[in-house]
Amino acid sequence: MFCFELNFSVNVLGTYIITESMLPLLEKAALDARVITVSSGGMYTAPLTNDLQYARNKRVQVALIEKWAEMYKDKGIGFYAMYPGWAETPGVAKSSPEFSERFSGKFRTWGEGADTIIWLALQPKEKLVSGGFYFDRAEAPKHPPFASTRSTNDE
Ligand SMILES: NC(=O)c1ccc[n+]([C@@H]2O[C@H](COP(=O)([O-])OP(=O)(O)OC[C@H]3O[C@@H](n4cnc5c(N)ncnc54)[C@H](OP(=O)(O)O)[C@@H]3O)[C@@H](O)[C@H]2O)c1
Repeated sequence: MFCFELNFSVNVLGTYIITESMLPLLEKAALDARVITVSSGGMYTAPLTNDLQYARNKRVQVALIEKWAEMYKDKGIGFYAMYPGWAETPGVAKSSPEFSERFSGKFRTWGEGADTIIWLALQPKEKLVSGGFYFDRAEAPKHPPFASTRSTNDE
């Protein structure tokens, strides 16, 4: 039996297992099949390493999307990662209560946070870049300028 750290389990293993398990169905649903992974702007602070903290797990999600896009580019499945922005959700209230209280009313609503997810689901695929990272209905950089967050394929 294996034990995994909870955040790594939910964000990395969960994303990996659900997506891999769905691939046969996604292939059947081609050419309009798509996978949208909700990552985070937190990943801008982290490179791809084997440390299991939240930001790195969100970085791994973006790397997985890139890998799947490359592996399945001829299968008619689109893979996209996105950042919802700070949105008022039960998750934020529970995991960062002080932060949540301090900025209450200043976050996006959960509906605004979901906007780009829905947009990615509904856009004609030829307008989207498979393997891309999206924020506010547009492709966004995966790395901040001058940051050492890039990794090699081997990593
Ligand atoms: N809200 C933000 O400002 C923000 C910013 C950046 C990124 N994100 C990302 O957006 C995504 C959704 O977050 P949210 O803010 O909408 O939080 P949320 O309202 O708490 O939703 C989190 C979801 O994850 C599920 N979940 C939590 N722990 C789990 C576990 N141990 N096993 C299986 N499922 C689990 C929850 O399931 P149940 O409903 O069954 O509990 C819930 O559906 C996350 O990937 C988060 O990293 C959010």
